[in-house]
Amino acid sequence: MTDRYCVFGNPISHSKSPAIHAAFAAQTGEVMEYTAIAAPLDDFTGAWRRFTAEGGRGSNVTVPFKEEAFRLCDTLSQRAQRAGAVNTLVLGKNGLTYGDTTDGIGLVRDLARHGVNLAGARILVLGAGGAVRGVLEPLLAAGPLSVRIANRTAAKAAALAQDFTDLGEVHGGGFDAVSGPFDLVINGTSASLAGDLPPLPDDLFAIGATAYDMMYGAEPTVFLRWAEARGARTVDGLGMLVEQAAESFFQWRGKRPDTEPVLAELRRSL
Ligand code: ATR
Repeated sequence: MTDRYCVFGNPISHSKSPAIHAAFAAQTGEVMEYTAIAAPLDDFTGAWRRFTAEGGRGSNVTVPFKEEAFRLCDTLSQRAQRAGAVNTLVLGKNGLTYGDTTDGIGLVRDLARHGVNLAGARILVLGAGGAVRGVLEPLLAAGPLSVRIANRTAAKAAALAQDFTDLGEVHGGGFDAVSGPFDLVINGTSASLAGDLPPLPDDLFAIGATAYDMMYGAEPTVFLRWAEARGARTVDGLGMLVEQAAESFFQWRGKRPDTEPVLAELRRSL
Protein backbone atom coordinates (compact mmCIF):
# COMPACT_ATOMS: atom_id res chain seq x y z
CA MET A 1 0.00 0.00 0.00
CA THR A 2 1.26 3.52 -0.83
CA ASP A 3 2.37 5.47 2.25
CA ARG A 4 -0.26 8.07 3.04
CA TYR A 5 0.25 11.58 4.40
CA CYS A 6 -2.10 14.52 4.70
CA VAL A 7 -2.65 17.96 6.12
CA PHE A 8 -5.44 18.27 8.66
CA GLY A 9 -7.25 21.56 9.11
CA ASN A 10 -10.71 23.05 9.06
CA PRO A 11 -11.27 24.69 6.67
CA ILE A 12 -8.53 23.17 4.51
CA SER A 13 -9.62 23.29 0.86
CA HIS A 14 -7.30 26.20 0.00
CA SER A 15 -4.18 24.56 1.47
CA LYS A 16 -1.07 24.66 -0.68
CA SER A 17 0.51 21.75 1.19
CA PRO A 18 -0.70 18.98 -1.18
CA ALA A 19 0.90 20.76 -4.16
CA ILE A 20 4.13 21.39 -2.22
CA HIS A 21 4.48 17.79 -1.07
CA ALA A 22 3.57 16.42 -4.49
CA ALA A 23 6.41 18.52 -5.91
CA PHE A 24 8.82 17.29 -3.21
CA ALA A 25 7.83 13.66 -3.88
CA ALA A 26 8.28 14.02 -7.63
CA GLN A 27 11.66 15.69 -7.16
CA THR A 28 13.03 13.07 -4.73
CA GLY A 29 11.42 10.03 -6.35
CA GLU A 30 9.43 9.17 -3.23
CA VAL A 31 6.25 7.18 -3.83
CA MET A 32 3.62 8.58 -1.48
CA GLU A 33 0.19 10.11 -1.37
CA TYR A 34 -0.56 13.47 0.30
CA THR A 35 -4.08 14.87 0.59
CA ALA A 36 -5.95 17.59 2.50
CA ILE A 37 -8.43 16.38 5.11
CA ALA A 38 -11.00 18.51 6.93
CA ALA A 39 -11.08 17.00 10.43
CA PRO A 40 -14.23 17.48 12.51
CA LEU A 41 -13.85 20.52 14.76
CA ASP A 42 -14.72 18.50 17.87
CA ASP A 43 -12.65 15.38 17.21
CA PHE A 44 -9.20 15.83 15.76
CA THR A 45 -7.89 12.85 17.73
CA GLY A 46 -10.47 10.56 16.15
CA ALA A 47 -9.52 11.82 12.68
CA TRP A 48 -5.84 11.06 13.31
CA ARG A 49 -6.62 7.56 14.66
CA ARG A 50 -8.81 6.75 11.65
CA PHE A 51 -6.16 8.04 9.27
CA THR A 52 -3.40 5.91 10.78
CA ALA A 53 -5.69 2.86 10.84
CA GLU A 54 -6.05 3.30 7.06
CA GLY A 55 -2.35 3.49 6.19
CA GLY A 56 -1.58 7.06 7.29
CA ARG A 57 2.10 7.46 8.23
CA GLY A 58 2.23 11.13 9.11
CA SER A 59 0.51 14.46 8.72
CA ASN A 60 0.79 18.17 8.86
CA VAL A 61 -1.60 19.94 11.17
CA THR A 62 -2.92 23.44 10.78
CA VAL A 63 -5.57 25.75 12.24
CA PRO A 64 -7.38 25.02 14.51
CA PHE A 65 -5.89 21.66 15.53
CA LYS A 66 -2.26 22.35 16.46
CA GLU A 67 -2.89 22.30 20.21
CA GLU A 68 -5.13 19.22 20.20
CA ALA A 69 -2.52 17.45 18.07
CA PHE A 70 0.10 18.40 20.66
CA ARG A 71 -2.01 16.81 23.40
CA LEU A 72 -2.42 13.47 21.63
CA CYS A 73 1.31 12.92 21.02
CA ASP A 74 3.15 10.15 22.85
CA THR A 75 6.53 11.87 22.36
CA LEU A 76 7.46 15.41 21.34
CA SER A 77 10.48 17.31 20.07
CA GLN A 78 11.91 19.85 22.46
CA ARG A 79 10.80 22.76 20.29
CA ALA A 80 7.25 21.34 20.16
CA GLN A 81 7.20 21.13 23.94
CA ARG A 82 8.15 24.81 24.01
CA ALA A 83 5.57 25.71 21.40
CA GLY A 84 2.73 23.82 23.08
CA ALA A 85 1.60 22.94 19.57
CA VAL A 86 2.64 20.71 16.68
CA ASN A 87 2.35 21.04 12.92
CA THR A 88 3.88 17.64 12.12
CA LEU A 89 2.82 14.20 13.27
CA VAL A 90 4.81 11.04 12.60
CA LEU A 91 3.51 7.54 13.25
CA GLY A 92 6.40 5.51 14.64
CA LYS A 93 7.00 1.85 13.79
CA ASN A 94 5.98 1.10 17.38
CA GLY A 95 2.58 2.67 16.71
CA LEU A 96 3.35 5.69 18.89
CA THR A 97 2.75 9.24 17.65
CA TYR A 98 5.66 11.70 17.60
CA GLY A 99 5.00 15.42 17.27
CA ASP A 100 7.19 18.26 16.09
CA THR A 101 6.73 21.85 15.03
CA THR A 102 8.68 22.86 11.94
CA ASP A 103 7.35 26.42 11.56
CA GLY A 104 10.24 28.01 13.45
CA ILE A 105 12.94 26.14 11.59
CA GLY A 106 11.07 27.04 8.40
CA LEU A 107 11.23 30.72 9.32
CA VAL A 108 14.91 30.58 10.24
CA ARG A 109 15.82 28.77 7.00
CA ASP A 110 13.84 31.22 4.90
CA LEU A 111 15.56 34.16 6.60
CA ALA A 112 18.94 32.49 5.94
CA ARG A 113 18.00 32.04 2.27
CA HIS A 114 17.38 35.79 2.12
CA GLY A 115 20.77 36.46 3.64
CA VAL A 116 19.41 37.76 6.95
CA ASN A 117 22.04 37.29 9.62
CA LEU A 118 20.31 36.40 12.88
CA ALA A 119 23.44 36.13 15.01
CA GLY A 120 23.76 39.37 16.96
CA ALA A 121 20.59 40.84 15.43
CA ARG A 122 18.13 43.11 17.23
CA ILE A 123 14.77 41.50 16.51
CA LEU A 124 11.23 42.76 17.04
CA VAL A 125 8.39 40.24 16.87
CA LEU A 126 4.83 41.54 16.53
CA GLY A 127 2.13 39.35 18.07
CA ALA A 128 2.00 36.89 20.94
CA GLY A 129 -0.34 34.15 19.72
CA GLY A 130 0.32 30.58 18.69
CA ALA A 131 2.14 31.57 15.51
CA VAL A 132 4.76 33.51 17.45
CA ARG A 133 5.11 30.99 20.28
CA GLY A 134 5.75 28.34 17.63
CA VAL A 135 8.85 30.06 16.21
CA LEU A 136 10.57 31.50 19.28
CA GLU A 137 12.79 28.53 20.15
CA PRO A 138 14.54 28.25 16.75
CA LEU A 139 14.74 32.04 16.52
CA LEU A 140 16.48 32.35 19.88
CA ALA A 141 18.72 29.38 19.06
CA ALA A 142 20.07 31.38 16.10
CA GLY A 143 21.80 33.71 18.55
CA PRO A 144 20.21 37.15 18.22
CA LEU A 145 21.41 39.97 20.45
CA SER A 146 17.86 40.55 21.68
CA VAL A 147 14.25 39.73 20.90
CA ARG A 148 11.44 42.10 21.82
CA ILE A 149 7.88 40.79 21.57
CA ALA A 150 5.18 43.45 21.15
CA ASN A 151 1.49 42.73 21.23
CA ARG A 152 -1.86 44.55 21.30
CA THR A 153 -2.54 42.76 24.59
CA ALA A 154 0.69 43.67 26.36
CA ALA A 155 0.33 41.14 29.17
CA LYS A 156 0.30 38.27 26.69
CA ALA A 157 3.62 39.39 25.22
CA ALA A 158 5.16 39.76 28.68
CA ALA A 159 4.01 36.28 29.70
CA LEU A 160 5.23 34.75 26.45
CA ALA A 161 8.66 36.37 26.80
CA GLN A 162 8.86 35.05 30.35
CA ASP A 163 8.54 31.47 29.07
CA PHE A 164 11.69 31.88 26.94
CA THR A 165 14.06 33.94 29.08
CA ASP A 166 16.28 30.90 29.69
CA LEU A 167 17.09 30.86 25.95
CA GLY A 168 18.24 34.43 25.53
CA GLU A 169 17.62 38.14 25.94
CA VAL A 170 13.85 38.30 25.38
CA HIS A 171 11.34 40.91 26.58
CA GLY A 172 7.65 41.47 25.99
CA GLY A 173 5.14 44.30 26.25
CA GLY A 174 2.78 46.56 24.34
CA PHE A 175 3.40 48.42 21.09
CA ASP A 176 3.95 51.64 23.06
CA ALA A 177 7.05 50.12 24.68
CA VAL A 178 8.73 49.53 21.32
CA SER A 179 11.74 51.63 20.47
CA GLY A 180 14.05 50.88 17.57
CA PRO A 181 16.21 50.47 15.72
CA PHE A 182 15.77 46.80 14.83
CA ASP A 183 17.61 44.75 12.24
CA LEU A 184 14.65 42.45 11.73
CA VAL A 185 10.94 42.99 12.38
CA ILE A 186 8.72 39.92 12.07
CA ASN A 187 4.96 40.31 11.84
CA GLY A 188 3.34 37.30 13.49
CA THR A 189 -0.04 38.95 14.15
CA SER A 190 -3.12 38.17 12.13
CA ALA A 191 -3.74 41.93 11.81
CA SER A 192 -2.99 41.81 8.08
CA LEU A 193 -6.05 39.62 7.54
CA ALA A 194 -8.22 42.52 8.69
CA GLY A 195 -6.09 45.00 6.73
CA ASP A 196 -4.90 46.43 10.05
CA LEU A 197 -1.47 47.62 11.02
CA PRO A 198 -0.16 47.54 14.59
CA PRO A 199 0.61 51.09 15.84
CA LEU A 200 4.38 51.35 15.38
CA PRO A 201 6.88 54.20 15.47
CA ASP A 202 8.27 55.40 12.13
CA ASP A 203 11.91 54.97 13.12
CA LEU A 204 11.70 51.24 13.67
CA PHE A 205 14.24 50.02 11.15
CA ALA A 206 18.02 50.05 11.31
CA ILE A 207 19.87 50.64 8.05
CA GLY A 208 19.66 47.48 5.97
CA ALA A 209 16.84 46.07 8.12
CA THR A 210 14.44 43.39 6.95
CA ALA A 211 10.69 43.30 7.51
CA TYR A 212 9.23 39.80 7.43
CA ASP A 213 5.53 38.94 7.38
CA MET A 214 4.59 35.36 8.25
CA MET A 215 1.58 35.85 5.98
CA TYR A 216 1.71 35.91 2.19
CA GLY A 217 -0.54 36.58 -0.74
CA ALA A 218 -0.59 37.71 -4.34
CA GLU A 219 -0.14 41.28 -3.06
CA PRO A 220 2.18 42.50 -0.27
CA THR A 221 0.51 42.75 3.15
CA VAL A 222 -0.31 46.10 4.75
CA PHE A 223 2.65 45.61 7.07
CA LEU A 224 5.10 44.97 4.22
CA ARG A 225 3.86 48.00 2.28
CA TRP A 226 4.27 50.12 5.41
CA ALA A 227 7.78 48.74 6.00
CA GLU A 228 8.88 49.22 2.40
CA ALA A 229 7.87 52.87 2.55
CA ARG A 230 10.21 53.21 5.55
CA GLY A 231 13.20 51.75 3.77
CA ALA A 232 13.14 48.14 4.96
CA ARG A 233 13.75 45.15 2.74
CA THR A 234 10.53 43.11 2.68
CA VAL A 235 9.96 39.36 2.64
CA ASP A 236 6.62 37.54 2.89
CA GLY A 237 5.94 34.16 4.48
CA LEU A 238 5.66 32.01 1.36
CA GLY A 239 9.23 30.76 1.78
CA MET A 240 8.51 29.87 5.41
CA LEU A 241 5.58 27.77 4.23
CA VAL A 242 7.77 25.83 1.80
CA GLU A 243 10.66 25.45 4.26
CA GLN A 244 8.45 24.14 7.08
CA ALA A 245 6.99 21.65 4.61
CA ALA A 246 10.49 20.56 3.57
CA GLU A 247 11.43 19.86 7.19
CA SER A 248 8.23 17.80 7.70
CA PHE A 249 8.99 15.91 4.50
CA PHE A 250 12.49 15.18 5.79
CA GLN A 251 11.11 13.80 9.02
CA TRP A 252 8.79 11.44 7.15
CA ARG A 253 11.00 10.36 4.25
CA GLY A 254 14.58 11.11 5.32
CA LYS A 255 15.22 13.19 2.20
CA ARG A 256 15.74 16.95 1.90
CA PRO A 257 14.00 18.41 -1.14
CA ASP A 258 15.39 21.42 -3.01
CA THR A 259 12.94 24.13 -1.95
CA GLU A 260 13.98 26.74 -4.52
CA PRO A 261 12.10 25.45 -7.62
CA VAL A 262 9.05 24.55 -5.55
CA LEU A 263 8.90 28.03 -4.08
CA ALA A 264 9.33 29.63 -7.52
CA GLU A 265 6.45 27.57 -8.93
CA LEU A 266 4.25 28.40 -5.94
CA ARG A 267 5.01 32.10 -6.32
CA ARG A 268 3.93 31.96 -9.97
CA SER A 269 0.64 30.33 -8.98
CA LEU A 270 -0.37 32.96 -6.39
P1 ATR B 1 -2.17 32.74 15.67
O1 ATR B 1 -2.28 31.27 15.85
O2 ATR B 1 -2.26 33.20 14.24
O3 ATR B 1 -1.02 33.32 16.37
P2 ATR B 1 -3.79 33.85 17.73
O4 ATR B 1 -3.20 32.94 18.74
O5 ATR B 1 -5.28 34.10 17.77
O6 ATR B 1 -3.53 33.32 16.28
O7 ATR B 1 -3.01 35.24 17.79
C1 ATR B 1 -3.31 36.30 16.95
C2 ATR B 1 -2.30 37.43 17.20
O8 ATR B 1 -2.58 38.52 16.31
C3 ATR B 1 -2.36 37.99 18.60
O9 ATR B 1 -1.08 38.44 18.95
C4 ATR B 1 -3.33 39.16 18.43
O10 ATR B 1 -3.22 40.17 19.41
P3 ATR B 1 -4.00 40.00 20.83
O11 ATR B 1 -3.22 39.01 21.62
O12 ATR B 1 -3.97 41.36 21.42
O13 ATR B 1 -5.38 39.53 20.48
C5 ATR B 1 -2.87 39.69 17.09
N1 ATR B 1 -3.89 40.48 16.38
C6 ATR B 1 -5.00 40.02 15.78
N2 ATR B 1 -5.68 41.02 15.18
C7 ATR B 1 -4.97 42.17 15.42
C8 ATR B 1 -5.14 43.54 15.07
N3 ATR B 1 -6.18 43.95 14.34
N4 ATR B 1 -4.21 44.43 15.48
C9 ATR B 1 -3.14 44.02 16.23
N5 ATR B 1 -2.93 42.74 16.59
C10 ATR B 1 -3.83 41.82 16.20
